[in-house]
Amino acid sequence: MIEKEISFHLKVYDNDAQLSENDKLLIERARAALKNAYAPYSNFNVAAAVLLQNGEILTGTNQENAAFPVGICAEGTVLSAASAVYPDVQVKKIAITVKSPRHTIQHPVAPCGICRQRLLEYENRFGQPIQIIMQGETGVIYIVNTVKDLLPLYFSNKEL
Ligand code: THU
Repeated sequence: MIEKEISFHLKVYDNDAQLSENDKLLIERARAALKNAYAPYSNFNVAAAVLLQNGEILTGTNQENAAFPVGICAEGTVLSAASAVYPDVQVKKIAITVKSPRHTIQHPVAPCGICRQRLLEYENRFGQPIQIIMQGETGVIYIVNTVKDLLPLYFSNKEL
């Protein structure tokens, strides 16, 4: 038996001012979209903004359903929208942010497992890493340069 340790790279920024103009704009666009969340059941608003290779920015928010599992995460909404409108355009970056009426979220919130898998599909589809930028309502910003940093032992179409 051997034991392996798998590490990943995480960049931590103290505030928006430390980000590149591109990244600052993307997180701002995500934040502005939070009001479009449809989250009457969880009251947990999530918004995501993607930057595409053609320079376009699209936003998406969580869309819940009375039948709870039918709801779609913000990342799923925006990735599907991007792929539906620009099927051949690479997704370069995604910024994700959150808001809750119950408490101020002062730390970055990472995408759920299903959304990591969704993101991986687009990363592999275009053969280029997708950078993920995460921020709560306030506080530090996390950036990882590839979905594989959040999903190291992943399942992909290579297995099929
Ligand atoms: N949610 C997202 O939109 N993205 C995630 O990565 C995690 C969770 C949504 C789903 C649901 O509408 C609410 O957050 C509470 O789980």
